[in-house]
Amino acid sequence: SSEAELIHVFKGIPFTTRSSPELLKSLDTFDAREDDVLLVSYPKSGTHWLAGVITKLYNTQVTLTSPIEFGDISKLEELNKLSSKRIIPTHLDYNMLPPNFKNKKCKMIYISRNPKDTAVSMYHYYRENPNLPTVDTWTAFFDLFLKGDVVCGSWFDHFLSWEEHENDKNILFLFYEDMKKDLPKIVNEISLFLGLKISDNDIQDICKKSSFSEMKSDTEKENSDPSHTVCALTSNRKLIFRKGTVGDWKNHFTPKQNRRFEEIFNEKMKLSKM
Ligand code: A3P
Repeated sequence: SSEAELIHVFKGIPFTTRSSPELLKSLDTFDAREDDVLLVSYPKSGTHWLAGVITKLYNTQVTLTSPIEFGDISKLEELNKLSSKRIIPTHLDYNMLPPNFKNKKCKMIYISRNPKDTAVSMYHYYRENPNLPTVDTWTAFFDLFLKGDVVCGSWFDHFLSWEEHENDKNILFLFYEDMKKDLPKIVNEISLFLGLKISDNDIQDICKKSSFSEMKSDTEKENSDPSHTVCALTSNRKLIFRKGTVGDWKNHFTPKQNRRFEEIFNEKMKLSKM
């Protein structure tokens, strides 16, 4: 399909047609609940990994919903009907988030990842995912990513819109790389943030079940039920678990691309603590 059939722009940000303009327009009226937990990310930052961990932390009934921006106008009604606690994923930037989540100070967890690895992961996603426009080469995608001319817009704008709120007590910031380095430590951090009491044994068990290989093979056992993705860009979980490593950018970036990326990173992120 052509880009025009797959993508539309809402408030300056490219969305796939899986997020209807009517739904996006109605987000402002969304009725959040105080105990909602939002799971926020730019695509390809480890959203499914984090969702896998979080859902295993609860021993009460929780529903991991599909992303708030996925679907049509009936979506908000659907979420309203859920009686259990809701874990709601989203790739929205802070400014587009329904204001009710902010007013009610709902807990939000923002996960981010080295943008170089995020770009590489997204490039492969563009190549595999029929809901995204075709990109012919890594070089072409690299330019689009730096321009922010990709679905969900600029990585830099997304990160900065959330980083501005890093001191808000209801927002926890996590990094993919920290999860790779010491998952038990991060699982403990998440459970404290969510006010859950988890034993060391449970943490070990959750980490084991959330390893890349376990999650990938679970997916191969399941059929691809739409409720199994937490990314508005696909319902096919098999597209999610590719390599799961840190530093794959080194296999893609040329030295020249690396220099250009760093120049733009330093310029755009000059006020950031990252
Ligand atoms: P790669 O494409 O680099 O492999 P998202 O869930 O936000 O779409 O992010 C997908 C990325 O997270 C993919 O990166 C995927 O392999 C990686 N990932 C998913 N589950 C993981 C896990 N359990 N451990 C490490 N990485 C994981």
